[in-house]
Amino acid sequence: PKDKGWVGSYVYNYQGFWTPPRFLQGVIAFQQQFQAEDSDIILVTTPKSGTTWLKSLLFTLVNQVKHSIFELNHPLLVNNPHFLVPFLEHALYIDGRVPDFSTFTSPRLLATHVPFASLPKSVQDSKTKLVYLCRNPRDTFISMWHFTNNLILHHNDTNSIEEMFDLFCEGVSLYGPFWNHVLDYWKQSIENPTKILFLMYEEIKKKPKILLKRLAEFLECPISIEEENCGVVDEILKMCSFENLSNLEVNTNGKFSTGEAYNLFFRKGEIGDWKNYFTIEMSDKLNHIIEEKFQGSGLKFSYV
Ligand code: A3P
Repeated sequence: PKDKGWVGSYVYNYQGFWTPPRFLQGVIAFQQQFQAEDSDIILVTTPKSGTTWLKSLLFTLVNQVKHSIFELNHPLLVNNPHFLVPFLEHALYIDGRVPDFSTFTSPRLLATHVPFASLPKSVQDSKTKLVYLCRNPRDTFISMWHFTNNLILHHNDTNSIEEMFDLFCEGVSLYGPFWNHVLDYWKQSIENPTKILFLMYEEIKKKPKILLKRLAEFLECPISIEEENCGVVDEILKMCSFENLSNLEVNTNGKFSTGEAYNLFFRKGEIGDWKNYFTIEMSDKLNHIIEEKFQGSGLKFSYV
């Protein structure tokens, strides 16, 4: 265990990644009890990379036949995306029991932060599709710093940015080291492009229509020309936009059964907020690590 990695408490190194004690039990339950099905779609992310956004995009895309995006009482308007696409490993912690995933209608839409090597064998061996999302490490770090400090406000404690940054650079971050998480999925997505789609937050921000169509094709629910002409792509992007989701009643006032407010998952939703916090020394230090870790991988982050 390592002190202070998360919410002023310990994080454990389990199978080479860091997780707080309250999620460790859920990770083990996921590994031991979850049985993947070929039709499953699992969203995998590094924490704070835009999971909430991609959960909503996935949900609207995959359910487009069941719930047209033009439906007045679309489920996304009254439910938080984390309720519609649950985290496999957090389910145990949040509800105190493992949900019966077999009752979910097919295709089951699920999510996880667990690194590739620690996924249950059935996920790796089945035809389950994985959509992976990451974000540039500077914005991911700043988002995480705000998130943890907001969570621990009630605990009369805060993590200073310097303290948390040093830990991040040592590889101590939720489900990190960050670079191991990203690189493993990146390599897997190159080896097995029909199983894993690798996406970046910045790419979706800059080219939302292209990325949404790529996602739909990967999930084998392509958007037809007719649908596109009817404005389906624009409507999905509008429905899932930061502005729309963050202002919905459910997301401004709702909370998990554990008491954490849904609005913690909506802060700024922009590329480049790191510029308001990073010193030149911090940028240099992280650049150096990222260059070394990602050397030769072909993966490049975008910071603006
Ligand atoms: P910031 O803290 O930089 O604002 P996660 O969902 O993985 O926990 O990531 C949360 C980050 O995604 C937060 O980033 C949050 O504001 C941003 N986010 C949430 N919903 C979004 C949306 N619809 N579009 C873009 N960014 C979004």
